[in-house]
This record gives sequence, C-alpha cells and structure tokens, in this order.
Amino acid sequence: MRYSKILGTGGYLPEKVLTNHDLEKMVDTTDEWIVTRTGIHQRHIAADDENAVTMAEQAGRVALEAAGLKPDDIDMIIVTSTTPHMVFPSTACLLQERFGISGCAAFDLNASACAGFMYGFSIADQFIRSGMIKHALVIGSEVMSRVVDWTDRSTCVLFGDGAGAVVLGPTAEPGVLSTHLHADGKHKDVLYLPLGNNRTPNLESVKMMGNQLFKLAVNILGDLFDETLEANQMQKSDIDWLVPHQANIRIIQAMAKKLELPLDRVVTTLDKQSNTSSASIPLALDEAIRDGRIQRGQLLLMEGFGGGLAWGSALVRY
Ligand code: UT7
Repeated sequence: MRYSKILGTGGYLPEKVLTNHDLEKMVDTTDEWIVTRTGIHQRHIAADDENAVTMAEQAGRVALEAAGLKPDDIDMIIVTSTTPHMVFPSTACLLQERFGISGCAAFDLNASACAGFMYGFSIADQFIRSGMIKHALVIGSEVMSRVVDWTDRSTCVLFGDGAGAVVLGPTAEPGVLSTHLHADGKHKDVLYLPLGNNRTPNLESVKMMGNQLFKLAVNILGDLFDETLEANQMQKSDIDWLVPHQANIRIIQAMAKKLELPLDRVVTTLDKQSNTSSASIPLALDEAIRDGRIQRGQLLLMEGFGGGLAWGSALVRY
C-alpha cells in the first residue's frame, strides 16, 4: 500500500497587525463584542506590495525547507485561494515561476473559500496514493482584507490575511488515513462574494448571514466527525489533536465538546490571526508542529467549512 504523509509545513503572516481596538475607531464595534462573539483579538493585514503569490512563496519556501526538499522536487503545486492575485495565470503558476521551476502540474483551487485547503489536501493525497506523483505542495494563501467591506462591522471584524503550506510525500505507512469532502449549493446565500461584473472581474465584498452559518457549521461538522471516525473505525478518544478551520471560537468549542476533547488538544490561532479562510488550517497546523505540541505518530483530525457551502476533513497520522 502507498499512502501520503505530511513531510513539512510552513506559514506566513504579514507584518501589519490590526487590533480590535483599531477597529473600534473604524466601525461601530467594541473589543468586548468581538472577543465574546468570536474569540478574535487581532488580525494580520497584507502590505500594498503583498498578494496571494508573495505570501504563498514565503509559506511554501518554509514548508519545503522543513520537508528537506527543493522546489524542483515538487511534482504538483495546488494553491487554494479565493483571493488570487490574478484570475489567470493561476497563483500556482505565478508561484512556480518565482520558485524558478517549470513542468510540474500547478493549479489554483477555489472550493468556496474556507473549505479550500481540505479539498486541495485531499486531491494531493489521491495523486500521491495512486502513484501519479511523489511530492505535492498545497498552499492556502488569502488576502481577505481586500474583499471585506471595511464599513460593514458584521464581516470586517472577522477576517485577516496569511498563507499556510504543507508538503505531502509518499510513505508505506499511513500517513493520511482518509479525507472526506462534501458540498451543498442550496446554502449559497449564507456566505458569498460576488464578482462586480463578468467583463472586468472586479470583486464586491463578502456577504454573510452569520447566525445561520454558525448553526449550519455546528451541525455539519458534527456529522463530518462521525463520518471520518467511522470510516477508520476509530473512537473520539483516539484523536490527539483537532486542527480546525478558524472561524469562531464558539464553533471550535462546540466541536471540542462533540469530540470530548479538552481545549488544550485543539489548535486555535484565531485569537491572533482571525479567520484567514483557506489559509487557517495549514497556519494552525504549522504553528502547533513548530512549537512542538504536535508530535510524530499522533493522530490529527483536520476540518474545514465555508461558503458554498463546502466542507471537508482529513484524519492524519502525523
Ligand atoms: O469561515 C467561514 C465560516 N464562517 C463562519 O462559520 C462564521 C459563523 N458565524 C459566526 O461566527 C457568528 O454568527 C458571527 C460572529 C458572524 C456573529 O455572531 P452572532 O452571535 O451570530 O451575532 P448576530 O449576527 O446574531 O448579531 C447579534 C447582534 C446584532 O445586533 P441586534 O440585531 O441584536 O441589535 C448585530 O447587529 O450583534 C450586532 N453586531 C455587532 N455588534 C458590534 C454584528 N456585528 C457586530 C460588531 N460589533 N462587529
């Protein structure tokens, strides 16, 4: 049997930090409301000369170094981004050029924002398992600050910028045990980002029905956990770490409760990073691997959830 495993991770956060107190001066909100309702204290904001490509490069190089690989060892680059630098060439192709490599498969994947990383991770896993490729670089890179309406307090307090990267490679022992992907387009109206017009794709800003989305997230993720554990005949008690999408601390707490996991076994970064959409899971993974919390051999449950709706999970023996 051939499986894929995580060989290395990397992350990048822009230097500029925007705190809740900064936001109090911009919209009718309070630090207390944001912290109580979301768990977020601050977010990072990309500089004018940064974009999804430059951030992906930073995170990607760190992940390659951690994996002990060079750019030309990579057979496939997948960038999951809803805020790409261009419609085309893809962020993945622009990144390939920055890495000074050519020939390998490179594409962007937009699985409706926040779930994107789980989709990219799953695709990379399938290609490695099947023997089609050896090494894949999967990067979530998002400049959410450019697609939020900075006068809309119900959304602008939630999002931030950053990039997270994972290098996957082949192994005889699992590795990635299973991945599970789903979508349901009937909930298209609870979270969306329209194009301004189709001839010149200028984006509008994120629209969200937060409360409905919150309830959908809690229900859908609960079922997703059951499906993931059942598929591997595992119990909640087998899980060492939950590495969730970072949308809201109350959703994360509900998920920890569902899994009967203490909160110190859940990787949370949203207090400092907010919701970085498809970058949030690899950023959380990278932080917990780098600070030594996540150790080789431990069992990780990763999950993502976002507009579409689309959602996905992976059970991974790190
Ligand atoms: O990443 C993709 C997945 N995303 C999610 O899953 C997000 C899910 N949803 C959420 O995280 C939460 O629903 C929010 C954090 C977005 C909102 O929290 P909530 O507890 O559901 O609040 P709400 O939308 O029901 O709003 C409660 C009140 C409203 O005022 P009224 O109508 O009760 O007078 C809002 O106008 O809070 C008001 N409000 C604010 N007040 C101060 C909304 N945003 C703000 C704000 N500051 N920034």
